[in-house]
Amino acid sequence: MSASGRFISLEGGEGVGKSTQLRALAAELRARGLEVVETREPGGSAGGEAIRELLLGGDEDRWSAQAEALLFAAARTDHVDKVIRPAIETGQWVLSDRFIDSSLAYQGGAGGLGIAAVRQINLFGIGEWLPDRTLVLLQPDGIERALVRDTGASDRIGGRPLSYHHQVEAAFRSIANEEPDRVRLIDASGTPGEVTERLLAAIEDLL
Ligand code: TYD
Repeated sequence: MSASGRFISLEGGEGVGKSTQLRALAAELRARGLEVVETREPGGSAGGEAIRELLLGGDEDRWSAQAEALLFAAARTDHVDKVIRPAIETGQWVLSDRFIDSSLAYQGGAGGLGIAAVRQINLFGIGEWLPDRTLVLLQPDGIERALVRDTGASDRIGGRPLSYHHQVEAAFRSIANEEPDRVRLIDASGTPGEVTERLLAAIEDLL
């Protein structure tokens, strides 16, 4: 029997170094002989990337909160159908830069729709395809510094006020509290190598 694929998502607020860590974690897993697919949200599939343009560009009032949440969920559904499920079913590991918990934290928590409602519309789209483990990177010295580092790359959502980003972080903490088996909080301070070690330790049982 071939080894079974695993699905890992990396989460966190703006500027916590997710993309760098995703590449490093993928390299570590490949060094262990695993086949790894690196992907991201919003996007990851052709349809998902088309929806990404709709979500991240344009004016703040381009979409209502509900329409925004549904677009993220539609992009995610296509991403699962076209990329994630086929990879896992053929024994590959999938590492995704953001997944459902970004919608729970941004649209559900900070956006005011409620985590339960946003979970429901997402589960309608993705069914059973939740990550085996979700690693949430948190900057212990606060998100202000991360946001400063992230300027220039800011988009329709990243450019929202500090209070919004505080609520995103609070929501990630509460999701980790509700689902401790799947969702783990990871200290993003220290050298990139130290952070990668923490991520690896948090998926050790899945290897
Ligand atoms: P991206 O450029 O990928 O940002 P980052 O480098 O911070 O991951 O832009 C994604 C933005 O979309 C980011 O501000 C988080 C937001 N987002 C949501 O609000 N909901 C979601 O479900 C996802 C996947 C992302």
